[in-house]
Amino acid sequence: MAIPYHLCLSHIFLSCLLALCCFSNPALCFKTKHFNLSTMEIRWSAAGATWYGSPTGAGSTGGACGYGDTVSQPPFSSMITAISPSLYRSGKECGVCYQIKCTAHPSCSGKPVRVIFAQEDHARPIQHILILVERHLVGAMANPGQEGKLRDAGVLPIEYARVACDYTGKTIAFHVDQGSNPNYFAVVVEFEGGDGDLAHVDLKEASNKTVDGWRMMQQSWGAVWKLDVGSTLKPPFSIRLTTQYSRQSLVASRVIPDNWQPGATYRSLVNYL
Ligand SMILES: *[C@@H]1O[C@H](CO)[C@@H](O)[C@H](O)[C@H]1NC(C)=O
Ligand SMILES: *[C@@H]1O[C@H](CO)[C@@H](O)[C@H](O)[C@H]1NC(C)=O
Repeated sequence: MAIPYHLCLSHIFLSCLLALCCFSNPALCFKTKHFNLSTMEIRWSAAGATWYGSPTGAGSTGGACGYGDTVSQPPFSSMITAISPSLYRSGKECGVCYQIKCTAHPSCSGKPVRVIFAQEDHARPIQHILILVERHLVGAMANPGQEGKLRDAGVLPIEYARVACDYTGKTIAFHVDQGSNPNYFAVVVEFEGGDGDLAHVDLKEASNKTVDGWRMMQQSWGAVWKLDVGSTLKPPFSIRLTTQYSRQSLVASRVIPDNWQPGATYRSLVNYL
């Protein structure tokens, strides 16, 4: 459950609108490959937004992507949003970056706000596109001094557009899942610049000199990828990422060291942007 039930209860309940995925935006249903989000023209689509959480807090931690406490720390820092299942797509959208803006309400500034999808909002009907934002992000879309009016407006009609993720020089990090052991390795991948999403994750034991020594990891849930080969894996490990949107690959060489520990985070030297 991405958003605790008690938070769901405290929501402003949605009553109206909300676009249908495939009808309003075919691009969401038929993903086009080999585009470059950094250079592509921004294309806005309609959605609804409502808010949860405290004025400044990062909302619930954990969530359907598996980022845990990192959502409250830079560079994620409270830019986290939850999305309805039609957008979440079984975790394929974890880490993807969007701009959202509101234009319909008189208190909207129209200024885009950058957000990262990191949670799934199960409480919504599957065909609706609803972006659940933190309370302060609603304020960020308002004209100065009119934050309260937007927060009281119920479900806000907004527009959203996918954009490249930019972590301003921060490199990709790998957080080793607590349940990992010498025979089973699971990892959360964080802060991928550019596309922000992942189609494939492969692991290679650095000692394996065969050209195709890469072992395909499976998406466990959200941003968590696992490898369960049934035999002991010999570290250090290199990890190869391939994004979904533009199919770009990148290798974090020997990013998981000899003495890796469950629960530890290892920073790579690479990123897409
Ligand atoms: C996308 O565009 C950016 C900025 O022009 C460039 O740095 C990057 O290499 C491009 N990526 C691809 C896959 O072409
Ligand atoms: C190297 O990796 C391949 C592919 O995963 C695997 O089949 C092979 O057994 C590995 N070789 C060694 C020496 O570990």
